[in-house]
Amino acid sequence: MGKYNFDQVIERKGTACQKWDNLGKVFGDPDILALWKADMDFQAPPEVIERLQKRLDHGIFGYPNRPDDFYEVIISWMMRRHGWKIEKEWICHSPGVTPSLVFSMLALTRPGDKIMMQSPIYSPFYHIIQENGRRIVDNTLVLNDGRFTMDLDDLKDKLDPGVRMLFLCNPHNPSGRVWQEKELTELAEICLEKNIIIVSDEVHSDIVYRGNKHIPIASLSKDVENRTITSFSPSKTFNLAGFRSAIVVIPDEHLRERYNSLVSGMHLAGVTVFGSEAIAAAYGSGEEWLKELIEYLEENLHFTEEFLNSHMAGIKLIKPEGTYVPLIDFRKLGLSSEKLQNCLVHEASVGMNNGAEFGKVTEGFARLTIAAPRSTLTKGLIRISKAIEKGCLI
Ligand SMILES: Cc1ncc(COP(=O)(O)O)c(C=O)c1O
Repeated sequence: MGKYNFDQVIERKGTACQKWDNLGKVFGDPDILALWKADMDFQAPPEVIERLQKRLDHGIFGYPNRPDDFYEVIISWMMRRHGWKIEKEWICHSPGVTPSLVFSMLALTRPGDKIMMQSPIYSPFYHIIQENGRRIVDNTLVLNDGRFTMDLDDLKDKLDPGVRMLFLCNPHNPSGRVWQEKELTELAEICLEKNIIIVSDEVHSDIVYRGNKHIPIASLSKDVENRTITSFSPSKTFNLAGFRSAIVVIPDEHLRERYNSLVSGMHLAGVTVFGSEAIAAAYGSGEEWLKELIEYLEENLHFTEEFLNSHMAGIKLIKPEGTYVPLIDFRKLGLSSEKLQNCLVHEASVGMNNGAEFGKVTEGFARLTIAAPRSTLTKGLIRISKAIEKGCLI
């Protein structure tokens, strides 16, 4: 028995949370079980809550600076957990990881430029590229024996001079891949050779399972470091997404200046009292909680895999190396994405992310959020297996 209780079921409905309060709007039924969104049904570490409470009790919330320990805990976390030595001056701000991708793109590319990304991918990648007048070049991942890999020959073929930037997702959502050194090195070499700026979304970097290691792509070499913008935050790791605060590391002075001048030009450089406190508290005192969280998630994964094997023949978990949002391959059912979604929502009464939202390759898949108390996960899996037993007729 650990120090923290991840089995506790806490009601989230009515707390203005997207995951549970938007079910009606998103799935058409407000009463289904929320197994979607990369957001956990666990409370943040008590150590974080305690620090926030202390700050709250002070009661004055004027324009803030960063707390004294802010930079030091980030630098130390990055070194200790991911082996990358970063400098205080490199650390920039964004109100979220996704906005930092947009800022990087606006600061360093022009309308009409092409941005490379690797589908299936977290769906805002599509929107932010297109809605800002840039063009998508998709280096689709390849699925072999239940594991996604990069197709670097395809990437090279598609790298014409119009491609200015790569949006990397490391670890990758939704494939669950934690890219290995060899894959990252080959990818980075191509980018250096073709003068492509790498924008690496590393928001899932702290949720990595046994036998795998997250490698920040910028940590590969000085040359790669100087062509890379890395963005991360404790929002996935410690369930703090609501604080809208991310960390953007830009070692190269020129890239950093362009990024910062865009952000300050929009008057978005201001930080929030609680976002800064939450980051400092999480990285400064959340490590023991994180260790137990990962153990719990690993057990949830194992449980999910066993459950699928014993109750849903042919329905497979795409075993993630990291992230708590693995894909489930339902293609055995032979249903279109729409029919699969209908079955999950209206017959099984669960809300999972439709695989089709991530790309064409994951049509017939759905993404399951396993960051929930085991009883919630069990309830969801039982409902799905019963709907499949009945033949998914809706
Ligand atoms: C790959 C990836 N990037 C970014 C985000 C969102 O980050 P933020 O809320 O900081 O914009 C998510 C959330 O699911 C994600 O999976």
